[in-house]
Amino acid sequence: MTDQASTPVSAAKKLFIKTYGCQMNVYDSQRMAEAMGAEGYVLTENQSEADMVLLNTCHIREKAAEKLYSDLGRLKPLKAERPDLKIGVAGCVAQAEGAEIQRRMPIVDLVVGPQAYHRLPAMARAGRGVDTEFPAEDKFEHLPKPAATRRAPAAFLTVQEGCDKFCAFCVVPYTRGAEVSRPVDRILREAHDLVSRGVREITLLGQNVNGWHGEGPSLEGQGGEWGFGRLIRAMAEIDGLDRIRYTTSHPNDMADDLIEAHRSEPKLMPYLHLPVQSGSNRILKAMNRKHTVDQYLRLIDRIREARPDILLTSDFIVGFPGETDQDHRDTLDLVARVNFGTAFSFKYSPRPGTPAYDRPEVDTDLADARLQELQALLSSQQKAVQESMVGREVSVLFEKPGRNEGQMVGKSDYLHAVFVEAPQAKVGDLVRVRITHSAANSLAGELVA
Ligand code: 5AD
Ligand code: SF4
Repeated sequence: MTDQASTPVSAAKKLFIKTYGCQMNVYDSQRMAEAMGAEGYVLTENQSEADMVLLNTCHIREKAAEKLYSDLGRLKPLKAERPDLKIGVAGCVAQAEGAEIQRRMPIVDLVVGPQAYHRLPAMARAGRGVDTEFPAEDKFEHLPKPAATRRAPAAFLTVQEGCDKFCAFCVVPYTRGAEVSRPVDRILREAHDLVSRGVREITLLGQNVNGWHGEGPSLEGQGGEWGFGRLIRAMAEIDGLDRIRYTTSHPNDMADDLIEAHRSEPKLMPYLHLPVQSGSNRILKAMNRKHTVDQYLRLIDRIREARPDILLTSDFIVGFPGETDQDHRDTLDLVARVNFGTAFSFKYSPRPGTPAYDRPEVDTDLADARLQELQALLSSQQKAVQESMVGREVSVLFEKPGRNEGQMVGKSDYLHAVFVEAPQAKVGDLVRVRITHSAANSLAGELVA
């Protein structure tokens, strides 16, 4: 440690990034690391040896946002010891609170929103600053091309950002801005680049990913307006790319060509995260979700008709303002009818600036009890779906060695983590596995000869 602290100035500077929240933040952190890499920064896992600490934040619920301030509090002694240490706050809290973060926590040097982080290197050179603009330029085109290093076999690729849906509880339209789709050629270029660096599985990311649309390339009669299903088919043509996933989708944007892609495109994995939030029409209306329970259920039927083995997941909010016991029972009823492979459920958190912020809240103990009840039902479904995998053959993409000698761990088609004894295998192998056992949050299996 002391050796590290006295390394000569010519040594690479070290960057520590902590990522909160969703997969898009994971992707953004990677892009910020690459941008700072061009400035001579290398990533470190050890915060205490960092020259720059970057917190890439989430604003979706109050607890997520408050974590930032407790982490900043913990950084105070480090900054006092080493005033040269740069502290940056990126992501959605940066966007929502801007300069307020520096007022509350003067140890923060840099505040940069999710649409302005291509300017982070210049800000770091300047020393101190706040940038929460939604610039006209495309940040991705202003980020340095990533160094041609090998990548993990599964990667994220942002194709769409922002949201125009304005659900009454949600900060995303304000923190990430209006819906913007990245152009086809840039997405395909990035996908080809990832594949050339060893990536075999790409998850296309967007706050409303299935709302993606774009102008097709004007070559070979492929021009015209493309929907998300067409983009998936173009991705599937990439040699060396074996698996495609996407998240997060809105039910109202599940177009026919996307459902069709689930039927006809074997590279598109049988997994779909399709948040419904509530099983009550009254609450869906109050949430401004713009669809009914029935429309959601009919959509699920059509998706299952196209791909019968698809694993479905969802998000739920309990205790939304005005939620009655009957509304809650309606949600449990919807869950029972769909049978989700897994799902995320949250207690409603009022967010400043959103339409629902001032509405009278449901009693907190009641909301806690409803959350427990819903989570118990969702866990029992998750367990049953996992157990139904036992005896089945799945494909697994190995992502890292397991805890035990000779063991590998990877994801199945259905995104279950699977542990396999495979002493000869390496990271990046895509193998056939027979599932032998289901544990709390993972499966175990054996290689199929
Ligand atoms: N309170 C609780 N949960 C929320 N989510 C979004 N906003 C809120 C909020 N204010 C949940 C939704 C969304 C997921 C990413 O987070 O379920 O789908
Ligand atoms: Fe938020 Fe999703 Fe609704 Fe958009 S569609 S406002 S991101 S919950």
